[in-house]
Amino acid sequence: MADLYQYRETPEEPLDCLYILQGTGVDSVGRMELGPKDRRALKAKARALSPRGAEGEVISGECPLQMAHRVTFVGLGDEKELTHAKLRKALRRVVRQATRNHEYQIGLAVPVKIRGLSDAESRVFALLEAALADYTFDHFKSKKNEFDKIDGLHIVPMAGETEEELGERLQRIRLYANSVRLARDLGNRPGNDLTPEALASMAREVCGEGSGIRVTILGPKELAKEKMGGILAVSQGSDEEPRLIVLEHRPKKPKKSIVLVGKGVTFDAGGISLKPAKDMGWMKYDMCGAATVLAVLNAVAQLELPFKVVGLIPAAENLPSGGALKPGDIISMANGKTVEVDNTDAEGRLLLADALVYAERFHPDFIIDYATLTGACVVALGHEAAGIMGNDREFLDTLVRMGDEVGERVWPLPLYEEYFSYLKSDWADMKNAGSRWGGPVTAGSFLEQFAPAKASWTHMDIAGVAYSERERSGLPVGASGFGVVLTLSWLESLRK
Ligand code: BES
Ligand code: MN
Ligand code: ZN
Repeated sequence: MADLYQYRETPEEPLDCLYILQGTGVDSVGRMELGPKDRRALKAKARALSPRGAEGEVISGECPLQMAHRVTFVGLGDEKELTHAKLRKALRRVVRQATRNHEYQIGLAVPVKIRGLSDAESRVFALLEAALADYTFDHFKSKKNEFDKIDGLHIVPMAGETEEELGERLQRIRLYANSVRLARDLGNRPGNDLTPEALASMAREVCGEGSGIRVTILGPKELAKEKMGGILAVSQGSDEEPRLIVLEHRPKKPKKSIVLVGKGVTFDAGGISLKPAKDMGWMKYDMCGAATVLAVLNAVAQLELPFKVVGLIPAAENLPSGGALKPGDIISMANGKTVEVDNTDAEGRLLLADALVYAERFHPDFIIDYATLTGACVVALGHEAAGIMGNDREFLDTLVRMGDEVGERVWPLPLYEEYFSYLKSDWADMKNAGSRWGGPVTAGSFLEQFAPAKASWTHMDIAGVAYSERERSGLPVGASGFGVVLTLSWLESLRK
């Protein structure tokens, strides 16, 4: 991972290349904080190279400044239409070219304005995208691509941006970017490596001593004591024991209480309702909700937020075996409600339900759960937004607005009371799955039966956005870390 530095006009050694991002008709050099001499020289060079700023354009030449050997202009297209995705793609292009050219120290000028964002917000997210642009997951490769990776990104200040201001921004960005990277790394780890138990050790490691977070891990015995029939049922076909991971950030006199719940199915074969072999491998990503919660809690401790923030991660592996849960089985959940298991592949809601019941003891004002819950949500929204459902319209609206701002889009789906009738069981209080119709919302309706009634609760179905089979919109293959930035931004906004 490349470190972020503040640009110095007189570096000890010249940088390998200075990258300047700009849109059509935009004079980025004019927007950079540079001494008059450097500015004049760069402007002359820009005139000579005459980049147009078109999307995808990359033009390089010799750098007229002391500070770098070469200069490259990277086009963004019409700036009025600039989105997070376009910026991500352009920065990914920068990283690719730098890697190909063996440039280890690069300068980066991203004086851009993202559509719908203020100058200050645009700045923060431009820096964040820059900090994430070189992400790859090579943990299991013998030959690391690290050698070819960039060592340092030297960020050029924008006109009017003081050194202090940029320094503060970079500090915040480092924290955000590290959390996103952590979520991606966790998501990308395969099922044999990241078992429920391994996830619990990771939680201990990340949020362990010194972080101020209290970590409690419940195993099968404790889960039985809590009557968590959902978590136990999901795991009973696997040799891997289930866990409920509890992470608590508890400042003195907290102003609010917030609980974040993340689906931690470390592999989802579907159980006895076995999934088809094709594409089953992607189900190692069925713990991306858990990864988001863990990564957020890691940052929460460092941000010293004045709220109680609790992370709950029910973790289990969903496999078929002689001891596995079967269709038709009736189980009893942590709040005593009974569920007829119609489909063992609808396992996420079973383990989330127990965690939602457990959330009540923290007297939450807000609850968000994150889950790769339904394929039907991917059918509905594709890979462009997560589906959100809940009991507080205002909270949903806030998340939609903030999601747009930070480039992690969410879109509301309804929770009409009629949906619960789709889950009617002849033998138990409810079934865990309905017919084909209304996949995401029947899942939401199921969860609603277990969410503490007094809290503002949002369920986020991240099945379509948590990972990708290929590089998409400038995001890498694999886990995206979706939800980390949105949640941290929302939590920080509660401070005001
Ligand atoms: N983990 C899956 C959902 C999923 C599907 C996530 C595709 C990402 C991509 C979940 O446990 C599941 O299997 N859901 C079922 C529910 C159905 C049986 C009611 C589904 O979506 O088919
Ligand atoms: Mn499933
Ligand atoms: Zn699942």
